[in-house]
Amino acid sequence: MEPIVRSGMRTENRRDETPDLNAALSNPNPQKEQMSHESMDRCLAAQAEAIWPEESRLLQAYELNARARILDAGSGTGQFATRLHARLPQARITGIDILPERIAPLRAQMTPGLTFALGDIFQLDFDDATFDLVACRHVLQSIPEPERALAELARVIRPGGRIHLLAEDYGMLHFHPTRHDLDLFFHNNMRSIREQTGVNYESGRHAPFWLETLGFKGVAVNYVIVDTLRVARPILREMFIAWRDGYTGLLAEMTGLAPDLVRERFEDMIACVSTPPGYAVWFVPIVTGIKI
Ligand SMILES: C[S@@+](CC[C@H](N)C(=O)[O-])C[C@H]1O[C@@H](n2cnc3c(N)ncnc32)[C@H](O)[C@@H]1O
Repeated sequence: MEPIVRSGMRTENRRDETPDLNAALSNPNPQKEQMSHESMDRCLAAQAEAIWPEESRLLQAYELNARARILDAGSGTGQFATRLHARLPQARITGIDILPERIAPLRAQMTPGLTFALGDIFQLDFDDATFDLVACRHVLQSIPEPERALAELARVIRPGGRIHLLAEDYGMLHFHPTRHDLDLFFHNNMRSIREQTGVNYESGRHAPFWLETLGFKGVAVNYVIVDTLRVARPILREMFIAWRDGYTGLLAEMTGLAPDLVRERFEDMIACVSTPPGYAVWFVPIVTGIKI
């Protein structure tokens, strides 16, 4: 029998390899600077505009109880929790985020059915089996040891309850035409970031395996296709401008490319999505499973 080859890094075996990596693996939010940058607000708003219409159809298929207890883990600017609250006004939705600067502005929007609190995905302040649905969107690709975070999320789901992951994967993003080889650019980014910080930019392809390993049943993946034919170009343009503004510095530092060269690659993406006949597609995996 062929041995199983797991692509990407297995963080559980990498502890103690180097002091730097060890420190990185212990950081629950290594992209804190990017996560709290103002460009992230723009990015999350554009991403939600592009993704929510399809994603909300997938959520309907879960047939959630009107009074469901829902956790949005790593809630950021509250894009998901507030949209879901509008759909399910009687549900009890809690958003948690590790950054106080993300939680503070959301306090004004709190209602009995929609609350936000500080919290760490790796150590949730909830009893076992508290929630009917736990959502975690655009987070797994930014934290080390996502399997450990998923185990903690699983702990707080009731038996029969569901997990809903939006698991980014930068091997599922393509552009044509471009001046630079952007597939190679993303491939190199994924590798450098993984090696230096333990963060897995391929969480999309790993997430079904992680859920199966944790014992979820009915594991399924649906793809929200974000492309220049389905989503208005100005929304995509806004999204990639925000990525450029938030991530040029980090990617330059990680890959050793000069910031100007990283920026040029983002400009390439922005040009591609801005004007026909440029075509870009981002396959966004929405991964779900039922806790047994
Ligand atoms: C890219 S944002 C996504 C926000 C939101 N889920 C959405 O879909 O719009 C990721 C968020 O996860 C938060 N985060 C990162 N590590 C975390 C952790 N260990 N515990 C809780 N939140 C975390 C970040 O602070 C950030 O606000």
